[in-house]
Amino acid sequence: MESQLIYQTAMVTGASSGLGEEFARQLGSRCGTLILVARREERLLALREELMAEHDGLRVEAFAADLSIDSDLVSLLTALRTKGLFPDLLVNNAGLGDYGEFTSSDWSRIDQMLQVNIRALTKLCHAIAPVMGELGGGSILNVSSLAGDIPIPDFAVYAATKAYVSSFSEALRIELRAANINVTMMCPGPIKTEFGDVARREPGASNGLPKESFFYIDKHQAVSEAISAMQRGKARCYPGLPVYAASVVLGLLPLAIVRLIMATRPRQKD
Ligand SMILES: NC(=O)c1ccc[n+]([C@@H]2O[C@H](COP(=O)([O-])OP(=O)(O)OC[C@H]3O[C@@H](n4cnc5c(N)ncnc54)[C@H](OP(=O)(O)O)[C@@H]3O)[C@@H](O)[C@H]2O)c1
Repeated sequence: MESQLIYQTAMVTGASSGLGEEFARQLGSRCGTLILVARREERLLALREELMAEHDGLRVEAFAADLSIDSDLVSLLTALRTKGLFPDLLVNNAGLGDYGEFTSSDWSRIDQMLQVNIRALTKLCHAIAPVMGELGGGSILNVSSLAGDIPIPDFAVYAATKAYVSSFSEALRIELRAANINVTMMCPGPIKTEFGDVARREPGASNGLPKESFFYIDKHQAVSEAISAMQRGKARCYPGLPVYAASVVLGLLPLAIVRLIMATRPRQKD
């Protein structure tokens, strides 16, 4: 049986919905203090109430922050310091996609994706890892995607942001080993959350996700597998057997074949 992980202070970004909310629920019994971050404060406060009622002695702090805005990131980090909150677990989960052709995309959406998926994740690692190391170590769980393993037309920027997260996490894992910090990345396939609605450019438009597919797993399973992988010190977690199998096959394919598959994949307009 796996030993229960106990964190003093766990921080989850994107805790207002989907995988982040699920991380918060599953970590509630495994930490003393839980820090929830997202823009939708009312959702964070409702989750805070629920988790504190469920877990005796659990302290939950909710921070409303737009991670695409630098001043919000700075305020968040200052508030953590002021309140003496030093995470020994950082779950960098907040993220968004935008499905459609690159040339017709709205720049503000592309910029937001770059800011949240890449910049905020990197900045939080940069600010938190040194303190985590000084305090004896901990864990960082970065949420990437199976999309990070392949270039995806109509999801070009999203897939590229996740390729960044995967590459960054692998390198950081090696760098931080000496500081007793484990870095694990989670690479999910499709999971039913609000991700698909956010990625859709207009109501009724496609969101790039399969409607029904054997690749889907539920968020409870995905998060439970990711926490378990982190607990075992694994580098990557591809939750669900079909997604894991797809990652293995993709890893074996020559780039020329991947290009061919991606070039013949149904496009947004088809
Ligand atoms: N669902 C999938 O199929 C799937 C597959 C592979 C990878 N992923 C990855 O999983 C992670 C979680 O996504 P999800 O599926 O749970 O989607 P979701 O339900 O849309 O949740 C996204 C979370 O990110 C937060 N967020 C987005 N923009 C933000 C901003 N500017 N500032 C602060 N927080 C922000 C949202 O909170 P607010 O809107 O309240 O700010 C929300 O809590 C993402 O990194 C996504 O790329 C998802």
